Amino acid sequence: MEVFKVSRNIAHLIILQRIELASPFLTRARRLFGRYLFSSFFSKYFINISEIGHKYYLLMQNEYKFIENFLKSGQNILSVGSGVGGLELLVSKKQSNTKVSFIEKNYISKKVKYGWDYKNLEAYNDLNLLKEFLLINHMEPKSFKIFDFDKDELPKEKFDLIISLYSLDFHYNFELYSKYFKQVSNNETIIIFDTIRPEFFKKVFEEVNIIKTDNNTLHKSKRIACRHFIN
Ligand SMILES: C[S@@+](CC[C@H](N)C(=O)[O-])C[C@H]1O[C@@H](n2cnc3c(N)ncnc32)[C@H](O)[C@@H]1O
Repeated sequence: MEVFKVSRNIAHLIILQRIELASPFLTRARRLFGRYLFSSFFSKYFINISEIGHKYYLLMQNEYKFIENFLKSGQNILSVGSGVGGLELLVSKKQSNTKVSFIEKNYISKKVKYGWDYKNLEAYNDLNLLKEFLLINHMEPKSFKIFDFDKDELPKEKFDLIISLYSLDFHYNFELYSKYFKQVSNNETIIIFDTIRPEFFKKVFEEVNIIKTDNNTLHKSKRIACRHFIN
């Protein structure tokens, strides 16, 4: 498989979640027509759907390599802000008996704005489309559960691995999830996320390892793999 199956609606979400996949035409349209028309119209109708399925697949393959060392079969994984879930899909295909709980938001902001989001109001997902993406790409229905951050009671079990790429502490404060993570982790749980302040987390966790340096994103960030909350 060198491509993910995607519909227009799913490809639309992928562009909003992974703006680096936007064509030069789309980037120009955003500058010329503004965030509202970009978010609702250009990013949905001026796209090459199969090309996005292919490029998103390659991007997620690459992300997989960064976390590969932390994966093994049979893990219970929590994913925060997965987007449509391409990375988690690859994990579940390559590692047998993986269980994934997704926590995401279920709306698309009218004028998607990237950057630091103090109130955590920006979102660009649709939980039905997240489910559709996983199922049309043959993820086992019983291997995942989806939780709406704003409406559902969040899962209470312990996780082996918690992943949040370009979401928690990249767009909104880690604080939002820290109490919850303490409840659903133990000292062996690995927590992986992208942040612009890796040093800060040395005061939060016993162990912090930088596993990726990203100088091309909106704000320069590091991906860190952490373990064992200090307090
Ligand atoms: C930039 S996208 C990254 C998507 C995906 N992790 C990836 O790497 O392609 C950020 C995602 O975080 C989601 N998000 C925003 N606030 C959230 C929250 N409080 N909990 C979970 N997800 C959230 C957005 O809806 C969006 O899908």
